Amino acid sequence: MIMIFEEIVLYNFGIYKGRHVIELTPPSSQETIILMGGLNGSGKTTLLEALQLILYGKLSKHTNRASMNYLDYLRRMINYHADPHKGAALELQFRHFKDGKEESIRIHRLWHSIGKGLKERVEVKRNGVLDTVITEHWYEYVEEFIPSRIASLFFFDGEKIEAFAEQHKTTELLRTGIHALLGLDLVNRLSTDLLTVERKHKTQIQSQQDRAKITALEKEVKEFETQVNHVVQQKIDAVQLLKQLKNEQDQLKEDYRREGGELFDQREQIEAQSKMAKQKLYQAEEQLRELAAGEAPLLLIPDLLRDTEKQAILEQEAKMNRTLDEKLEERDATLLQLLGQHDTNSAALTAIQTFLEADKTERQQSLKTECYLNIEPAHFIRLQEAFLTQTQASAKTLMALAEQTADEVNSCERKMSGIPDPESLEGITVKLENTQLQINQAQFLIEAKEQEYQLVYKRLEHKQEELRQAYDAKTQEQFSEELTNRLLKHSDKVRGTLEKFRIAATKKHLEQLEALILESFQQLIRKDNFINDIQIDPDSYTLTLYTSAQDVLSPESLSAGERQLLAISVLWGLSRASGRPLPAIIDTPLSRLDGKHRQNLVDHYFHKASHQVILLSTDEEINKKYYRHLKPAIGREYHILYEDDKQSSVIKPGYFF
Ligand SMILES: Nc1ncnc2c1ncn2[C@@H]1O[C@H](COP(=O)(O)OP(=O)(O)OP(=O)(O)O)[C@@H](O)[C@H]1O
Ligand SMILES: [Mg+2]
Repeated sequence: MIMIFEEIVLYNFGIYKGRHVIELTPPSSQETIILMGGLNGSGKTTLLEALQLILYGKLSKHTNRASMNYLDYLRRMINYHADPHKGAALELQFRHFKDGKEESIRIHRLWHSIGKGLKERVEVKRNGVLDTVITEHWYEYVEEFIPSRIASLFFFDGEKIEAFAEQHKTTELLRTGIHALLGLDLVNRLSTDLLTVERKHKTQIQSQQDRAKITALEKEVKEFETQVNHVVQQKIDAVQLLKQLKNEQDQLKEDYRREGGELFDQREQIEAQSKMAKQKLYQAEEQLRELAAGEAPLLLIPDLLRDTEKQAILEQEAKMNRTLDEKLEERDATLLQLLGQHDTNSAALTAIQTFLEADKTERQQSLKTECYLNIEPAHFIRLQEAFLTQTQASAKTLMALAEQTADEVNSCERKMSGIPDPESLEGITVKLENTQLQINQAQFLIEAKEQEYQLVYKRLEHKQEELRQAYDAKTQEQFSEELTNRLLKHSDKVRGTLEKFRIAATKKHLEQLEALILESFQQLIRKDNFINDIQIDPDSYTLTLYTSAQDVLSPESLSAGERQLLAISVLWGLSRASGRPLPAIIDTPLSRLDGKHRQNLVDHYFHKASHQVILLSTDEEINKKYYRHLKPAIGREYHILYEDDKQSSVIKPGYFF
């Protein structure tokens, strides 16, 4: 299952502005090294990061990212001079065998800023066609052929190797390496899970207390339910009774009405009305009587009244004439005498005489009037006014009132005659009163039951909630209990087996691993017969070296450079032991080594590290001399150099020399 990186594309990634395509396929199986030279800061480590990032995305663990938030890291890696909205992208094409068939995979990871946020997208093509399934499940897919936990065995930089060179770091490297390789990390996780489960087991006692609490709560809930049902039934009964009573009441009211009950109810009112009408009638009649006692009867004799008035006037005139007569006689005689003494026109005298004669005759006529009334005519004027206007009007009004009131009295009397006997209604009245009483009681009962229901129901709800909470707790409890029981049943067995498995697997692989590390170390150290055995303790993973004289040599007694070589040997051994033919990417591991040890690495490690080795170096590390040594194994070579005018590093074919 060989895997080969074919091409990597960098777009606005770190120091690489614009698009940069690098061919990586080794031209033959002998020319395994892809050598990439660049001065400090030119972008070598950036390339190593790019490879890890493109494969593992947010799961990648490279030094530069450290504890930085993934999206912040992505943002920081967009080239400073590029438009962050255009963003950055990485592409990697590789081929490998899957299920016996070679396939070509091209993964495209791109991201760009949107406002304050960042959007990342991944697209995977399989044999040139977009594969949505692999795209969606990329992390699972990549885990299958380069598990992230062993990735560090293939992607490593020089600084890390220096760190591994410390004793406890070597042990740590071995522990994680061996665990990752053998899948023992899973075994460890299983043991931890078992312990967690055991801890849960201790909660069982508590669970028994809970059970008692639940039983008590269940009983209480049931009691409240019974109470609620009881109250509800009582309320239903009361409502039923009320309905029945109301029907009875309607029937009774109907009977009562038919029996004249309504009139009976109004009897006092009718009596009062009658009394008042009678009183009014009496008053009207009284007033009429008063009128009759006064001048009213005169209204019956208007002609006589008129004649009497005439007579009175005549009498008054006669009286006046009587008084005047003698005086006027004297005056007339005097007048005529006077006229006789004077030379009066006889015609005028005759006319005067005739006039006086006529006046006397008229007076004589009046004096004949018989005087028997002796009343002032003025009395008649007063009488006539009073009668024609007031008396007549009030008499009319009073008579109308009397008539109307008499009708009222009659009507009341008619009604009163229709009022039934109180005794005849007594039966119904008593029944009606009883029914009303019962209705009031029923309504009161319904209200009381409603209030009682609210109260009991609230209590029931409260208890139900308590019980529900207890159930929830119990369900979780039961669940873990079941899990505990099930797992504990197998726990001893499983743990025993796991331990046996771990020791057996470690031992079996340790032997192979010890041999591989020893072989690597011997090749790199090139001190003949210096170390001839390496042992790793299966429990502590400490590494012990043995000299040819069977002397124990602890790694601390090695020189710093030797320890670095040992670390490389451990990594190399682990990667070989993993049995996975994956490309190796090695970022400048030579800085701390002297010429001799550099030479050893150049001669014995690089071209053998894998079937494809991407080697990143400065001109000082792989210098002219080492370059010449490596040359036969170099498949492709590039020179990364920063170009000021482009504000970017560019990748050109050909190494420094
Ligand atoms: N987003 C970015 N845009 C432009 N330049 C960047 C960006 N991020 C990092 N750089 C620059 O890229 C360079 C980092 O390069 P890198 O670490 O890959 O160098 P190197 O070749 O590994 O150097 P050395 O030999 O010292 O290990 C630094 O100069 C850094 O300032
Ligand atoms: Mg670097």
